[in-house]
Amino acid sequence: MHSSMQASPTPVRDDVPLRRIDHVRMFVGNARQSAYFYRNAFGFDVIAYAGLETRHRHEAGYVLRQGQITFVLVSPLSGQHPESRRLIEHGDGVQDIAFEVENVQHTFDETVRRGAVPVTQPTLLEDDTGVYEYATIRTYGDTTHTFLNRDRYRGVFAPGFLPLDADRYSPGTFRPAGLKAIDHVVGNVEEGKMDYWVDFYKQVLGFNQLVHFDDKDISTEYSALMSKVVQSGTGRIKFPINEPAKSKRRSQIEEYLQFHGGPGVQHIAMATGNIIETVKAMRHNDVSFLRVPRTYYDMLPSRVGPIKEKIEDLAELGILVDRDEEGYLLQIFTKPVADRPTLFFEIIQRHGSRSFGKGNFKALFEAIEHEQERRGTL
Ligand code: FE2
Repeated sequence: MHSSMQASPTPVRDDVPLRRIDHVRMFVGNARQSAYFYRNAFGFDVIAYAGLETRHRHEAGYVLRQGQITFVLVSPLSGQHPESRRLIEHGDGVQDIAFEVENVQHTFDETVRRGAVPVTQPTLLEDDTGVYEYATIRTYGDTTHTFLNRDRYRGVFAPGFLPLDADRYSPGTFRPAGLKAIDHVVGNVEEGKMDYWVDFYKQVLGFNQLVHFDDKDISTEYSALMSKVVQSGTGRIKFPINEPAKSKRRSQIEEYLQFHGGPGVQHIAMATGNIIETVKAMRHNDVSFLRVPRTYYDMLPSRVGPIKEKIEDLAELGILVDRDEEGYLLQIFTKPVADRPTLFFEIIQRHGSRSFGKGNFKALFEAIEHEQERRGTL
């Protein structure tokens, strides 16, 4: 029996239930060629295509899949495409983070009632394999969130997309990377706007706030940022949000905001069950990662204590380690994947830890600043 003194646990109310991140849509200058990059360097399979051949008149799209991760790469087919200005303003980058939901109409109505700005009203698309429903709202910058449901859809991705011709790509000469799922997606917003967007995710999407770093935790001589993390009711979706903090010279967040032309997605972290094999494969496939100084690994045993992996293997590949009360994590960051110093990727393997690698920020920022110095943007 419970004593009457004991508080009963408050049930978590999830008024905007999101099942999962369904896909990330990237708007790029040349989707056909970007698909080669994500396939041959990151190890994605190209599973579906939409374009002129599938009666898509205004854009070409490629659906890429690895584990539970889906990227959709889209390019406009003319200047008449309503989003074509994105390419000049932002360069290649993330346009939309799409959630799978139970009920598109309800989710859209509820988020709009809570203050979301609508982009696309609930829309039903149909082809001979079923019905696909979606609606879209705005988030930071020109980034959007789509709510979609394909419970009654049996096609490969969405109406308009067809399975890729088997002969479109030859069997890969690249090594599979073993990426499993999206761990978190990080947004960069303007100075002073972090709390606004944290509140947006709390109020509009019913997220909770996780941990909080401030600029005392995260600063080097030049770069400083503030970061807060929001997560969905189930904890399955995690969005850290960064803003620049005052520093002597231009921080990496300011550099991003300048080259991206405002707020947007800074990095996507993808989880693997074996980061050593993943990074070996990706390096073989020619992915460039940020490197920290060798001295990082001299300090490692005393900083993180015993870990399963061999320090020599981690040092050889440049993989970073951090520990918190719950366990440890291994992580590594790619260099920006397009010409502008904007979007990059993180590979992460968690051993119990649910944090984001705060202990690595100083070493990482020094590595990023070294790159900024080479770009003349420090
Ligand atoms: Fe991250």
